Amino acid sequence: MNDSAIGVFDSGVGGLTCVDELKKLLPNENIVYLGDTARIPYGTKSRETIYSYAKQDIAFLEQHDVKMILVACGTVSSVMMSMPVFEDSAIELKSGVVVPAAHAACAATRNKRIGVIGTSATIKSGSYGKVIHEIMPDVKVVGMACPMFVPLVENGYTDKDCAGARFFAQEYLEVMKREQVDTLILGCTHYPHLSGLISDIMGDDVKLVSSGAELAKHALNTLSYHDALSSRTQEGSLELYCTDSEELFRENVEKLMDTNINAKISRCSLKL
Ligand code: DGL
Repeated sequence: MNDSAIGVFDSGVGGLTCVDELKKLLPNENIVYLGDTARIPYGTKSRETIYSYAKQDIAFLEQHDVKMILVACGTVSSVMMSMPVFEDSAIELKSGVVVPAAHAACAATRNKRIGVIGTSATIKSGSYGKVIHEIMPDVKVVGMACPMFVPLVENGYTDKDCAGARFFAQEYLEVMKREQVDTLILGCTHYPHLSGLISDIMGDDVKLVSSGAELAKHALNTLSYHDALSSRTQEGSLELYCTDSEELFRENVEKLMDTNINAKISRCSLKL
């Protein structure tokens, strides 16, 4: 048993898709979340910049008595497959979204055609394809960067009837329809906020895999395996930190989170 918190980070509100699932699966755990809203987007930046941001995010969470760090950002999760973002960290339990989401997609596909949508950095890294091919070498993987999705989500344009969001979604998803993928990984944790729209375009037969939700399931398994679940019998606390305007962040949290939870929201600054 371990009553320390689970640390989660993303560049913004995307990682809340992981937190929502954590609250369902592990309601008694304390959670500390960091959204680096002052520096979002990460997905259009260089690997070196993403790497240095990620190290600062990890260092921040380590100051909050965490037992595990979840990288609820597809971009950092992709970069960390070849760059040691945890090199200065003493945290043993850690995971990104790529491996859990790739496993879920391989388990879901029937026609062995998997689509991956993510930020430019994620798609360029080929991270999901590499892991999918280690699990199932004969799967066709189709990748597409969707750079307009993160600003749409961060500005609250997530409704499936939003004409602007639909325009970009149709452009980006055209290749997925043409390639007849039956499983689509939402490889950026912001994208499940657009899942109503994405599903409307792709059709009900296409299984959407939320990378953030898969990470939460993985966290449950890892904590159980290491006997590190909390012994708490009441609901755990939720502390949310952002690096830019607290008001804007609060508005987004209220709009985007499934669970109406009592979260403490604070602005912080990272050590640069
Ligand atoms: N939510 C982040 C991800 O999963 C990306 C957003 C960004 O570009 O910062 O990739």
